[in-house]
Amino acid sequence: MNPSKEQVKLLKIALKATSSELQEIRVSRSTQALSVTYAMRKTNELGADNKVAVFGLLTNNMREMLQESSMGWSVSKKKREVFHTRSRFIIAHDAQSSLVAFSMFRFEKEDQCVVLYCYELQVEEAMRGLGIGRSLLTQLESIGLAYGMDKIMLTVLKANQKSVKFYKSAGFRLDSSDPSRFGDCRQDYEILCKWLPRPTASSLTRLEVA
Ligand SMILES: CC(C)(COP(=O)(O)OP(=O)(O)OC[C@H]1O[C@@H](n2cnc3c(N)ncnc32)[C@H](O)[C@@H]1OP(=O)(O)O)[C@@H](O)C(=O)NCCC(=O)NCCS
Repeated sequence: MNPSKEQVKLLKIALKATSSELQEIRVSRSTQALSVTYAMRKTNELGADNKVAVFGLLTNNMREMLQESSMGWSVSKKKREVFHTRSRFIIAHDAQSSLVAFSMFRFEKEDQCVVLYCYELQVEEAMRGLGIGRSLLTQLESIGLAYGMDKIMLTVLKANQKSVKFYKSAGFRLDSSDPSRFGDCRQDYEILCKWLPRPTASSLTRLEVA
C-alpha cells in the first residue's frame, strides 16, 4: 500500500525544506548546562572538516560493532550512505568547536507512511550520559512533527543493548516492519519506531497542504 496524496505532498514539502527552516522548528532539550550548540546541515552544506569529524565519530563508535554484525563495515559503502544527497544532519559542537555528537536523518516513504528515518545518532564517548542523545532525539521529533511525518524510524543492532534501552526509554517500540513481526527472530537488528501525533489543521495550513 502507498501513502495517501496528502502524505506524499507532506513528504515533498519536507524534502524541499531548507536547513534554516528546520533549524527554526526544532525544539532543543537543555543539555545540563553544557555549552553545546546544534546546527542543521544538508550533506552539501557540511563542509570538509565536518565531514571528516562526522565520519571519525561514526567510525569510533560503530566500526567494531558493525564488523561483528550482519551489516558489516565498509568505509566506501558507509560514506555513500551517510553523505547521500538526501541526508540531513544535526551537528553538535562544544565550546571549542569540536564535534561531540551528530544525527543523520532523511525524510522517506516507508510502506504506507511518510517518516523521518534516523540513520545515525552518535555521541562521543566522553560526552555520553549528559542528555545530548536525548536532546538530538527531541529535535528529530519536533522536526518530524512539524513536517507532518507519521513516525520516526530507526534500526538498531540487538547487541547494542545500551542504545536499545535508550530508545525504549524514549518511547520507541518495535515497528510493524521489524522481521520478528513476520516470525523471523534470527536477525541481529531491530526496527523501532515512535509514532507522531497527526498534524493539526493549522500546521497543515502552514505547510500549505490543506
Ligand atoms: C545511545 C546514545 C546516542 C545515547 O546518547 P547519550 O547522550 O549518552 O544519552 P543521554 O545522556 O541523552 O541519555 C538519555 C536518557 O537515556 C538514559 N541512558 C543513557 N545511556 C544509557 C545507558 N547506557 N543505559 C540506560 N539508560 C541510558 C539516560 O539515563 C537518560 O535518561 P533520562 O532522560 O530519563 O535521564 C550514545 O550512548 C551513543 O552515542 N552510543 C554509541 C553510538 C550508538 O550506539 N548509537 C546508536 C546507534 S543505533
